[in-house]
Amino acid sequence: MVSLRNARRSLEQRRDRVEEALENLVQERLTKSDAPAMSLARDILLAGGKRIRPVLALVAYEAAGGDDVDSVMDLALAAELIHTATLVHDDIYDQSKTRRGVPTLHSSHGISHGIIAGDYLFVLGFSLGGRCEERIVNRMGESAANIATGELLQHKHIGDLGTTPEDYYAIIDGKTAGPFASACACAAMFAEASEGVVETLSEFGWEVGRAFQLVDDLLDLTGDPSMGKPRGTDVHDGKMTLPIIHALTMLHGVEREQLADVLQNFSDDRWGELTELLESAGSFDYTRQLIQNHIERAHASLDILPDSEAKSLMIELAKRSQRRRI
Ligand code: IPE
Ligand code: IPE
Ligand code: MG
Ligand code: MG
Repeated sequence: MVSLRNARRSLEQRRDRVEEALENLVQERLTKSDAPAMSLARDILLAGGKRIRPVLALVAYEAAGGDDVDSVMDLALAAELIHTATLVHDDIYDQSKTRRGVPTLHSSHGISHGIIAGDYLFVLGFSLGGRCEERIVNRMGESAANIATGELLQHKHIGDLGTTPEDYYAIIDGKTAGPFASACACAAMFAEASEGVVETLSEFGWEVGRAFQLVDDLLDLTGDPSMGKPRGTDVHDGKMTLPIIHALTMLHGVEREQLADVLQNFSDDRWGELTELLESAGSFDYTRQLIQNHIERAHASLDILPDSEAKSLMIELAKRSQRRRI
């Protein structure tokens, strides 16, 4: 097993490799006929995302027995490009002003350019990932298609105070956990791992992805200026995140009515009220407990893999997702 300090350094190295490969790709595309589209997409692409999906792909590949990390880089980049494409489009329909600490693409260049740049990033992602064997491309396609399913379900439940935890999990499995699982599973297939190992790494991705989104929901409510996006967007947008669903179920009488009123008529001067209601319902603690459960399940899913540096890195990545402040 590697020490915590070594694990951190190794993860940083993998992140640096992703960053470098991404920069090279951008430079290469800027010399081709798609240069106008890449110059539009470049700023957001290189604005310093966490790169968790591509790093997961690299580490899952190694945990699955792969020994040529360079060979899986295109697949890892595909995950990041497709993810960034969803962010560019997501920021249009969520009307978000900042992303990765910089103005959103559509707020700088207009909605039409945002749509075009998002489409371009999707195409570029699939053209890189599409060189893999058919079952990998199918898995990537399935997870990207399920993002749409998750997003449509989320739209359906905007402002719906009757949203259930099951609805919530269907939404986040589509938009977040599925792509995490796909990054891990595709990388394991690329390493020609057995079906059992592919399944194990996929399970790990599902659980870390669920924890990641739950942390994101908490951060939206508790806030942190270093997030690169403003606090409270979910509440302003009427998104039914788990802490809110939980509070709506736990509170009764006057408090329940007050919560419904805060959610339906939200403004920034009601933050204190909302936070108190969520505290009183125990919703922050409940959400933290769920995050812990998902991380433990992610950890347990790796039990069948032999100990290795890559396995330790996967465990460290899971813990980071839980502890992250951005
Ligand atoms: C943002 O994903 C969308 C969610 C699923 C919460 P990330 O938090 O991974 O965003 P970047 O890539 O680091 O900007
Ligand atoms: C966006 O989801 C990411 C997608 C998978 C499309 P959200 O709208 O919940 O995330 P943020 O808050 O904008 O990052
Ligand atoms: Mg959204
Ligand atoms: Mg959004």
